[in-house]
Amino acid sequence: MEVLFSEIGKLIGTDNEIKFGVKMKELGVLSNAYLLVQDGVIAEIGEGLPAEIPENHIKLNGAEVLPGFVDSHTHLIFAKPRYNEFVLKIKGATYEEIAAAGGGILNSAKILQGTPEDQLFDDAILRVESMIRAGTTAIEIKSGYGLTPDAELKMLRVVKRLKEYFPIIIRSTFLGAHAIPVEYKNNTDEYVDIVINQMLPEVAKESLADHIDVFCDTGFFTPEQTDKILKAAIKFQIPAKIHGNELGLTGGVQVAVENEAWSVDHLEYLGSDEIACLKDSFNKQYGGTMPVALPGTSYFLRIPYSDARTIIDNDLPLVLATDYNPGSSPVHSLQTISALACTYMRILPEEVFHAITINAARALRMESLIGSFTVGKRADFLVMKNKDSLYSMPYYLGQNQVSRVFVEGLEIK
Ligand code: NIG
Ligand code: FE
Repeated sequence: MEVLFSEIGKLIGTDNEIKFGVKMKELGVLSNAYLLVQDGVIAEIGEGLPAEIPENHIKLNGAEVLPGFVDSHTHLIFAKPRYNEFVLKIKGATYEEIAAAGGGILNSAKILQGTPEDQLFDDAILRVESMIRAGTTAIEIKSGYGLTPDAELKMLRVVKRLKEYFPIIIRSTFLGAHAIPVEYKNNTDEYVDIVINQMLPEVAKESLADHIDVFCDTGFFTPEQTDKILKAAIKFQIPAKIHGNELGLTGGVQVAVENEAWSVDHLEYLGSDEIACLKDSFNKQYGGTMPVALPGTSYFLRIPYSDARTIIDNDLPLVLATDYNPGSSPVHSLQTISALACTYMRILPEEVFHAITINAARALRMESLIGSFTVGKRADFLVMKNKDSLYSMPYYLGQNQVSRVFVEGLEIK
C-alpha cells in the first residue's frame, strides 16, 4: 500500500549518518516536505509534492515531523514500583546504602520471582503503550530482576511476547548479572558461574537475547567478572551493552571496549582515560562502543550527571536513553530526558535530537532500519504539536509534544 504524507512544515532528521561531535548540532531538514510510504517503508522524501499523487493522501497542515524516538536502555519489566525506597532517599539514604541493606534490585527481584508471567506481560503492555504515546517507537528491554534461571527466563519470555504483540521494534537484553543475590554475597564467583553456565546457555538456546549486559560497578560485578561473562556470551554470538561507571571510575568502559560492546551506558563517572578509550574504539574494526548517558538516573538518585558535554566536545557520538526502571529512573519519556539533558547537561536541543534518534539506533546497531528519514528505512515517525518541537520538548518539561505516532506508515491509536 502506498500512502503520501504532505504539507509537512519541516521534516527533521534526513541525515543518515551517525553524528559525532560538532556534527551533532547539524540538522538534516526538508521544508514544506512530503514523505511517501510504500508498504511501511520510506519510498521517497522531498519538498513540495511527488510527481504522482497516490490515492491515500494525508495532509499534515504544516506540522513538524520527526523520526520515532529510540530508547536504547530500559528495564521496563518489573513487578512493583519502589515507593518505600523513594521515601528513604528523600530522607537521605543513598542508592548504595539501600542496595547494601538488601533493597534495590534485590527487592525488585524478590517480588518479580513471585509474580506470574502473564501479570508482568500485562503491566509491561501498559508501559510500552505510554512510551509510544510519548514518541518512542523502538525500545530495548533488559531482564535483571529475576536473578534465578527461572525468573530471568520468565522476564525474557515476556520481552519475546512484547515483540510479537507490538508493531514497534523491541530488542531484548539478558542482564542476569544485574546484582548479587544475598545467598551469593560471600561467593560472588559462584553466582557468575550460574549466569555463565546455567542461564546463558538456556537464553541462547531459546534465542531470547539480542544482547547481554552486566552491571559492572562498585558493589556489583568487577571488570574481571564482567569480562568472563562477556567472553562467554561472545561464544553464543551475543553482543554486549554494559552498565558502567555509574558509581565510580570502575573500569566499565575499558572492559566494554575490550569486548567490543555496542554501547556502554551510564558514565556518570568519566575520566580522560575513559574518553580516550571510547575514542579509540571507533578506530577499531568492530565499529566502536557508543557512549550512552542516562540523565533520568542522575536526577532521581541525585548523583552527578554524566559529562555529556565533554563526550560531544571530544568528537564522540552521544546517545541518551531513559533507563526506565523502578529504582533509579522511573522515567518513561525521552521528551523528559531531553529536558534533563538540555538543562543539566548543557546539551543543545539539536544534539539531543540526534542522541535519541540516529545515534540511539546505532547503540542497537539498527541504524540501517530506523533513526532517520532515509529511503528504505521503516516509516516510524511522529507528528508534533508544536512547530518548534526540538525546543518545545526540553522547554515544557512534562508536556507531551507528540500529537500522532505512525509505525510502518500506520497510525497507532
Ligand atoms: O540502570 N544500575 C543498574 N541498574 C539500574 C537500576 C536498577 C534498580 O535500581 O532497580 C540502572 O540504574
Ligand atoms: Fe539501567
